[in-house]
This record gives sequence, C-alpha cells and structure tokens, in this order.
Amino acid sequence: MKQSFSKAIVQTGYGDRNVFEVQHLQVPPPGPREVRIRHTAVGVNFHDIYVRTGLYKILAIPGIPGIEAVGEITEVGSEVPAWRVGQRAAYVDRGYGAYCEERVVAENLLIAPPSILSDQVVATSLLRGLTAAMLLEQVYHVKDDDLCLIHAAAGSTGALLVPWARHLGARVVGTIGQRPLAPETAALCEHVYSYADAHWSEQALAEYGPHFQYICDSVGAPTLEGSLAVAARCGHVALFGQSGGMVEDIPVRALAAKSLSVTRPNVFDYLSDDERRRAMTRSFIVMVERQGLSLPEPVSLPLDKAGEAHKMLEERLTQAPIALIP
Ligand SMILES: NC(=O)c1ccc[n+]([C@@H]2O[C@H](COP(=O)([O-])OP(=O)(O)OC[C@H]3O[C@@H](n4cnc5c(N)ncnc54)[C@H](OP(=O)(O)O)[C@@H]3O)[C@@H](O)[C@H]2O)c1
Repeated sequence: MKQSFSKAIVQTGYGDRNVFEVQHLQVPPPGPREVRIRHTAVGVNFHDIYVRTGLYKILAIPGIPGIEAVGEITEVGSEVPAWRVGQRAAYVDRGYGAYCEERVVAENLLIAPPSILSDQVVATSLLRGLTAAMLLEQVYHVKDDDLCLIHAAAGSTGALLVPWARHLGARVVGTIGQRPLAPETAALCEHVYSYADAHWSEQALAEYGPHFQYICDSVGAPTLEGSLAVAARCGHVALFGQSGGMVEDIPVRALAAKSLSVTRPNVFDYLSDDERRRAMTRSFIVMVERQGLSLPEPVSLPLDKAGEAHKMLEERLTQAPIALIP
C-alpha cells in the first residue's frame, strides 16, 4: 500500500484570508471506486470565497477547500476499470478538497479533458463550462430566435454563455459592470448595457420591450429587479450567482403578472444526476472540440498563494480566471 504526503491549503475557520494554513497531510490509498490524483492545476472560483467567508458554511472545518482540478492519476482502486495510472483527468467535486498537491477522488467524477486544452485552462473552465451547459441546455433549453439577456457578459462564465447561446440560435443582449467586454464577445451581442447605470433596465425596455425569453443573472442585487421587468410573458430568469450582492426575497405573487419562472440553479445539484452530468459534460466537450468555444487563458499562482488568489478575485484585480499550481 503506497503512502504519501501532500501539501494542502487548510481552511482553519471562516473569515479573511488568514484562515488559510499550508499543511502537509497524509494521502490515504484510494477505496475500490476511487483514484488517487496528483494535481497539475487547481481552479479558483467565487464559490471558494463564499466558503472561506462562511456565507456558505458547507466545508467542515478544518478542511481543504476547492472544487475543481486537473492532474495525473497515480493509483486506481480495485473496481475502477475505466481509468489507469498516468492518465490525465479532471473533476468538479462538491465535497471540496481540491486545494492540494495530491488527493483521493471518486472515480465517477472524473472526465478526460479535451487534449487541445492546457491543464491551467481545464482547471479554470470545467465548472464554468458545465454551468453554461446547465443554464443553456438543462435549466432552460435555449432555441432559435430566443431573445436572451446575459448579465456580466465580460465575466468568465458570461464569456462562455454569450457564444454558446448564439450557437443555439439565440439573439443575445449583454450587460457589463466595470470590466470591458472582449471584442469577440461584443461582436456576438446585439446590444450591451451597463448595470452600473441604475437605468439600464429602462433603456432595455425602451429598446426591446418586455420581450426577453431567457435571462441569465449572476450579479443579483443590482440586476434582478430589472431582469424581472424586461422578462417576456412566460419568460424564464435563472439567478445563478450574486457577485454584486445578495438579492431580496421575491414574493411568488409578483411572478403572476407575466407568468414568470424564476429558478436558482446550483450546478452541483445538476451534476449529482448521472445522466445530466454526462449530457452536460458531452455538451461542453463538443462545444470546445467541434464548435471552437474559446476559453479564457488564466493567470497562474503557486498553490501557497491561495489567499492572494482570493484577494485578486475579491478586489477585481484580475479579469482572467486563476489557476493554482501545486
Ligand atoms: N449557481 C451555480 O451553480 C454557479 C456556478 C458557477 C458560477 N456561479 C456564480 O457565477 C458568478 C460569476 O462567476 P465567474 O466564475 O464567471 O466569475 P468572474 O469571472 O470573476 O466574473 C464575475 C462577474 O461578476 C461581475 N461582478 C459584479 N459585481 C461584482 C463584485 N462586487 N465583485 C466582483 N465581480 C463582480 C463582474 O463584472 P464587473 O467587475 O465588470 O462588474 C464579472 O463579470 C459568481 O457569482 C459565481 O458564484 C454560480
């Protein structure tokens, strides 16, 4: 039985970036349906910040945060016929534990990433790619000529949603906050509003009327009211994040005037169903390999600098996603 030690970022409490401690922990051997994986890149997500501050109190403390990574398999369990030592694999794990050099992970979470992508790009795109698949093909299936509003189109997830929705035949209108839209994303949007302007929804109503069939909103407090105002009769609003602040509760009766559906999807719930997970993974891979979906190039930091990576996201010091390199 092989035993080894792994450097890991351990979250010792909830709070500021000082709750992170570098520790060296023993890696157990994999169980029958598990593999041991040595990470080459670990993705950093907004979700990790919510876990660190305690907004989401789901990580058992002390614990290792991090939900996605890519690496090389170093040992396989006795009932894992599909994977072998030396293979490249990536995963998203709602059970956390990715901020480390090496760990054990359940075999059913693994995917073989497209070979055209670097490890850093895979580690910072898998969760966002699966989120885009969830939003555009599971929560609501976007179809030809749907008028869609994609908030935070300049963010890492927004930049995937815009071309993907266009690929499905939708007309896309975007919104941005502080960061500018990349020219290739701007070229795919009919119009771009700034949600920093409190009147963005009035402008959108004047130009488009309340005719948006589908709205993907990850900004929250500054945008949700406007999202509901511009939604079409029988339209759908997916509130999937709150990077701009927590939203007020919406009374269900407020949805009756236009028969609106508002959902609050969480990608982990969609991934917990095997059939959906396979469909979402397949869609993401097809979008990358056959449709040329372009994924943002991340900035890389050493694993020890996890706290700095959080600071860069929290203080908007980078527009690129961040990969930690063990
Ligand atoms: N529900 C799910 O399953 C799920 C899955 C993945 C991601 N998410 C959520 O989706 C959101 C976007 O994630 P991402 O990975 O695409 O993040 P990202 O690349 O860092 O982009 C964040 C976006 O939010 C905007 N934003 C608005 N207010 C902000 C603030 N106060 N601080 C920082 N950014 C702010 C940013 O635009 P400006 O800076 O220009 O305003 C940017 O466009 C997050 O809330 C995340 O939790 C949810």
